Amino acid sequence: MSAQFFGGVGLRPTHYPHILSHGAGHVQWFEAISENFLDTLGRPRSILHKIREKYPVALHGVSMSLGSPEGICQEHLRRLKTLADEVDPFLISDHLCWSKVGTHYSHDLLPVKYNKESLILLVQNIQRAQEGLKRSILVENISAYVHSTEAEYTEWDFITEVCQRAGCKILLDVNNVYVNSVNFNFDPQIYLQAIPADKIGQIHLAGFTDMGNFLFDTHSKSVAHEVWELFKFKARGLDSTPVLIEWDDNIPDYSKLEAELLIAKKIWEEIHPKEVSDEIIL
Ligand SMILES: [Fe+2]
Repeated sequence: MSAQFFGGVGLRPTHYPHILSHGAGHVQWFEAISENFLDTLGRPRSILHKIREKYPVALHGVSMSLGSPEGICQEHLRRLKTLADEVDPFLISDHLCWSKVGTHYSHDLLPVKYNKESLILLVQNIQRAQEGLKRSILVENISAYVHSTEAEYTEWDFITEVCQRAGCKILLDVNNVYVNSVNFNFDPQIYLQAIPADKIGQIHLAGFTDMGNFLFDTHSKSVAHEVWELFKFKARGLDSTPVLIEWDDNIPDYSKLEAELLIAKKIWEEIHPKEVSDEIIL
């Protein structure tokens, strides 16, 4: 059987009325930001349940702070597990970054140092998160704007090594790879080639903003041509991996998200042509 396209979009409040009254259209699944639904008494939680009754849902976190030396917040893990037990997501993800010191949370996802010390710390924290959630997670590569001079690994070798040791998969954000390749001047194809296909559990596609002297990962635009090309390059070797369109700022009509997803689907189906056994034989 050929690799099937499985395309989703980020679930955003502005689209709730459309999805609840018209259905998901071309969208096969939704990715919900975990932190937006941790309040068990909130209206968002009941909407998420309604959507989950009809569609697969993935939970995507932004505040686990897997790179923090103080470890994972047990209360956060407990609340996330309660949400996951209720929603039964087909995957749970967070980022390869740190964003917390003590009780102070940064709004930004900050890069870790690509060295042995942070590799050991990340593996430990991911394993503890997986033990707390009683399931494996996915870890996403982030966009970055500052660079550690103490790197002992490339970004691509580092994330692969972390995920291999921790027993988790990679949420490969192709836009973040491209943004970093421009900001830090490396070949994005070398990055993508280095990530083992069987370690990729999900793909993110999004738009960036060109700030003149650097690219900024704004999720506020259509996916750029260069990012579509990189998606085409890497998707060739992938099995039926979930693909997601992320859009977080200047959020357009739902139909625009569907249109972006259909571009991804077209690319996917061009490089994964249907095999004869996939056709219904009358
Ligand atoms: Fe992403």
